[in-house]
Amino acid sequence: MPYGSRLAAMMTRRIGRECVYTPSARLALYLALRRWCRPGARVLMSPVNDDVILFVVLAAGLRPVQAPVSPWDGNIDPAAVPESMWRNVDAVLTTNLYGIPDRVVELRRRCDQLGIPLIEDAAHAIGTHVDGQPIGTFGTAAAFSLSKHVAATAGGFLAVDGARTRRELELLRDDLLTPRRLRADLATTLRPLARSTVRTLHLVRPVWHTMQRLGLLERDDFRMALHAPRLAGSARQAPSLTAYEPWVRVDLHGFRSRHGAFVRGQLEWRMALLDGDLARRRAGVALLSGTAWATPALREGAASDSPPSLFRVPLLVHDRDALLERLVNHGMVAGYVYDPPLDDYAGAEFAEPSPDPSAARWFAAHTLPADPLLARRVINALTRERAAPARPPVPTTPLPDTATTPPTPLGQ
Ligand SMILES: Cc1ncc(COP(=O)(O)O)c(C=O)c1O
Repeated sequence: MPYGSRLAAMMTRRIGRECVYTPSARLALYLALRRWCRPGARVLMSPVNDDVILFVVLAAGLRPVQAPVSPWDGNIDPAAVPESMWRNVDAVLTTNLYGIPDRVVELRRRCDQLGIPLIEDAAHAIGTHVDGQPIGTFGTAAAFSLSKHVAATAGGFLAVDGARTRRELELLRDDLLTPRRLRADLATTLRPLARSTVRTLHLVRPVWHTMQRLGLLERDDFRMALHAPRLAGSARQAPSLTAYEPWVRVDLHGFRSRHGAFVRGQLEWRMALLDGDLARRRAGVALLSGTAWATPALREGAASDSPPSLFRVPLLVHDRDALLERLVNHGMVAGYVYDPPLDDYAGAEFAEPSPDPSAARWFAAHTLPADPLLARRVINALTRERAAPARPPVPTTPLPDTATTPPTPLGQ
């Protein structure tokens, strides 16, 4: 039986596509990019994304091209991508940021017209649907992350069409996996327990400050250090996962580990809890969407019977950075802040700049990603801190090529 096939079968039952199990979504994305893009290809992506994903694209030997985004959700705004840019890309990578769906129907149509692959990053979006169809079933391939759901600290999938493609990718994956280490397996199993213990004992604040003081956090800021000269050196070896490992492994050092049966068994158990997790998220999204900090798209969704199940709820606030610091005093550390946008962070040598970076900059600077599982605590804390809601500046005279697409109606 192929490695991780029981987990893969569980995922296939959820989304109806052939799935390859991977220890992380980043490895799944790397596999997809290697399989469907030739080295040197240009990949259109949102600059409001995890820096790790930029390094995955670079590791695959590709050029990350930064797209204009919607100021409402940070995902690619297909209508704002100039025609000249469409003609010069070889693939599109979505984000489904925080679980809010990309404009996948339009992106799929464009990719089909151009004859290029659409790779879906569904890491934040298990449980997101567009018109009743799950995110992760629109593209040529889709990557999922278990780390973002059910409090796992490992696990991912690559969803593809056809058993033959799946088998091909399983072989490619097996070549990239590193041997299992018992210590790493133990850490992977114990980490979620340690996390929930810290939370239950209200130790978030002292633990966070201690980790900061001891230099145990891999990022001093929202972005990891770029180490440009070293990165340029790695480019000479691309495509190569190993050459980019110092960047790609950040936050998840076991991203390519061949975890043993114990870790995989634990993931099966956690995956069986997924529907309950999604339901609890939905309840939290309903609460947060009714607040003044929610985006208009979310507020409209809150009025409906079934709010979406999001990984994080992007709240738009003034003075976001100061608020984040004060939230630590309320026992909450908000991760997944993608500021500055990737083109500002990496520079033109490593990321082709967006033709219109303004919306990405605004969204990245004002978004506070709130965990819907902590909705009540977040609302209480933001109320006590008198957080001021922010609204994106709406362009008054959009050019035909740069018109802003209205927010996508959110799926279930
Ligand atoms: C948008 C996005 N895609 C992919 C990943 C990678 O997921 P994993 O940690 O499972 O490799 C992350 C990680 O945070 C992410 O934020």
